[in-house]
Amino acid sequence: MSEDAFGGAGDPGSSTDDRDVSPFTVTSDGDLDTNLRPRSLTDFIGQPRVCEQLELVLAGARGRGGTPDHILLSGPPGLGKTSLAMIIAGEMGAAIRVTSGPALERAGDLAAMLSNLVEGDVLFIDEIHRIARPAEEMLYLAMEDYRVDVVVGKGPGATSIPLDVAPFTLVGATTRSGSLTGPLRDRFGFTAHMEFYEPSELLRVITRSAGILGVRLDHEAGAEIAGRSRGTPRIANRLLRRVRDYAEVRGDGRVTLEVARAALRVYDVDELGFDRLDRAVLGALVKGFGGGPVGVSTLAVAVGEEPATVEEVCEPFLVRAGMIARTPRGRVATAAAWHHLDLTPPAGALNASFGVRVRDDGDSLFGPEF
Ligand SMILES: Nc1ncnc2c1ncn2[C@@H]1O[C@H](COP(=O)(O)OP(=O)(O)OP(=O)(O)O)[C@@H](O)[C@H]1O
Ligand SMILES: [Mg+2]
Repeated sequence: MSEDAFGGAGDPGSSTDDRDVSPFTVTSDGDLDTNLRPRSLTDFIGQPRVCEQLELVLAGARGRGGTPDHILLSGPPGLGKTSLAMIIAGEMGAAIRVTSGPALERAGDLAAMLSNLVEGDVLFIDEIHRIARPAEEMLYLAMEDYRVDVVVGKGPGATSIPLDVAPFTLVGATTRSGSLTGPLRDRFGFTAHMEFYEPSELLRVITRSAGILGVRLDHEAGAEIAGRSRGTPRIANRLLRRVRDYAEVRGDGRVTLEVARAALRVYDVDELGFDRLDRAVLGALVKGFGGGPVGVSTLAVAVGEEPATVEEVCEPFLVRAGMIARTPRGRVATAAAWHHLDLTPPAGALNASFGVRVRDDGDSLFGPEF
């Protein structure tokens, strides 16, 4: 159930052919995404803190001639976790084996993967929060002692056979570090918290991608796309490709500011980068539930989506944009959300500024974690 080709199961953003020299011509979006992946830490745009920390972890291990500590990459989808995992392997000159949490249903699945590792290998487990319990327990021992106990048989006659595992580096990626169990989280030597990208960083991502794809892109057009990319490189690249389609079909291929704006209108991406689903969530919260508080699963039902999609894809950005606040009682629309939908917020609606959410009367509503 595992894949050692780049682009593991459960990573919708990557294709399975991710080699440096692919014999295939660049045609489908999947191939393009693959070509746009940064290959080294110097290629990797943004996330300065994570890059600096990671550089130290890797350089330290290289200096000692050992394998780096286990690394957890945590953050919303499309920020570069899979790319970073490949970069880690690349920087260490190691091979990468790719699998994902949902693929590791039984401990035996993981045992097979682990026993095939060669010293120094990077084992990348995407969506590690979805790993099944028996596999997770096996992973504890493997991470700590480079050893697994394979249980053969059932009941009183069951025996456990110890197997050595070659020293390896586990790189786990998760969009929900909160759902990781404590013991698993504790076994990572370093956790990289990926942040949303600034528009200026996304502009660099877009400019780099336009260069690789051979798109003639005006600076202002790049900035416009960057501003609507929800702080996410994957979205920036996708919007760039859609805008390029528009420019090639309706124009002469050059992406000017007017072309970019017209294309983004066609694809229903508004000035803040909200798409149809974001607006549906906001609309349901404000119009359907009077601004909340409402639970995330109720919201998801209202817009016909999976709760996980709303929670992991829409919500982080809506919170960051100051449209939604998470409260112990559920999700609440801020005054900005009402304004964004051209509605007048009720008295007492939340005001959001710089991530600190306070009531109109200035009373802080939430504890320090908000
Ligand atoms: N720092 C970066 N610089 C340039 N391009 C980037 C960067 N980070 C991500 N990208 C681009 O965004 C795409 C998505 O990145 P990646 O697949 O690594 O995200 P992810 O965090 O693993 O997402 P998911 O959680 O959905 O698996 C990549 O194919 C790459 O083209
Ligand atoms: Mg990924």
